[in-house]
Amino acid sequence: MKKDYIDIQDFTAEELKTLIELTGIVKKASKERALSDLLYKASLAMIFEEPSTRTRVSFEVAMTQLGGHAIYMKPGEIHLGARETIGDTAQVLSRMCDGIEARLLKHKDMVELVKYASVPVISGLTDYQHPAQSLCDIFTIYENTRKIKGVNLTFIGDSTENFNSLLFISSKLGLNFYMASPKKYQPKETILNEALKNAKESGSKIVITEDPKEAVSHADFVYTDLWWWVGQEDEVEERRAAFMPKYQVNEKLMKLASPHAKFMHCLPASRNTEVTDNVIDSEQSIVFDEAENRLHTEMALLVAFIGKTLKARGKDKENIYDKEIDRVMEKLS
Ligand code: CP
Repeated sequence: MKKDYIDIQDFTAEELKTLIELTGIVKKASKERALSDLLYKASLAMIFEEPSTRTRVSFEVAMTQLGGHAIYMKPGEIHLGARETIGDTAQVLSRMCDGIEARLLKHKDMVELVKYASVPVISGLTDYQHPAQSLCDIFTIYENTRKIKGVNLTFIGDSTENFNSLLFISSKLGLNFYMASPKKYQPKETILNEALKNAKESGSKIVITEDPKEAVSHADFVYTDLWWWVGQEDEVEERRAAFMPKYQVNEKLMKLASPHAKFMHCLPASRNTEVTDNVIDSEQSIVFDEAENRLHTEMALLVAFIGKTLKARGKDKENIYDKEIDRVMEKLS
């Protein structure tokens, strides 16, 4: 398996399924308060170039629950790429920490970080993909249906970075993926072609349309995301005009999906914009289960990627140097 988790396309369907299986076990262990300190005394450097609630909190809590520690570096707080090269930052953090989680504006910067980091790097979002969110989304779907292959997932809205990784993981794992969006906001040809290659192997179906009614008519799960994000402030009016009202997930649109269909959103949501209150707060909505699952997914990712490379730090060894340390400390008193 790859050392770093920054791109769904780096992983086989089997590896992704194993990460989903691991998430289920770690979640169960955590709920039963039976999770051991799998990352005992490990440190995770967390770099954020953009704000975050779920990603920041889930990785930080996950490290604590696994017996380790996380260091949050907020936007603008460290030298990354400004007063120091990304490569130098990566090498320094690799000397002090056991892993790096990063939310970076540009995916090319993530690739640079990975190039110089000797410890595993886990993506918390770039302008290309949100692979941690997408793994969580498929785990959430699996939790609800006990199956993955053949599940119908309908995405209504913009082809965001989160959309890209959701399309990749769905097409790798054999979900049928329907997307409805205005032509201008549909996926780039390069993204779609990669997904179609995945689909050919997995047997998944990919349908991109401008018709949200047609797209939801197939749905076991209806998914939407924000219509604009940080850096798109100048496009708000243009985007609102393109999506509203046709692509809003409201009660009327949800009624066209099967009665068992669930509503998903990676959050944060702009309520009564891409989704109405009466959908996001309805019985069909699983958005807060999905948000909670970020924690369990991050635990699985941390165990899988950092746990594998972590040097032996068993508690059984922790006292062997105490006498020697005490002897030297005595010289200081
Ligand atoms: N879904 C997600 O990544 O949320 P945050 O932006 O709050 O981290």
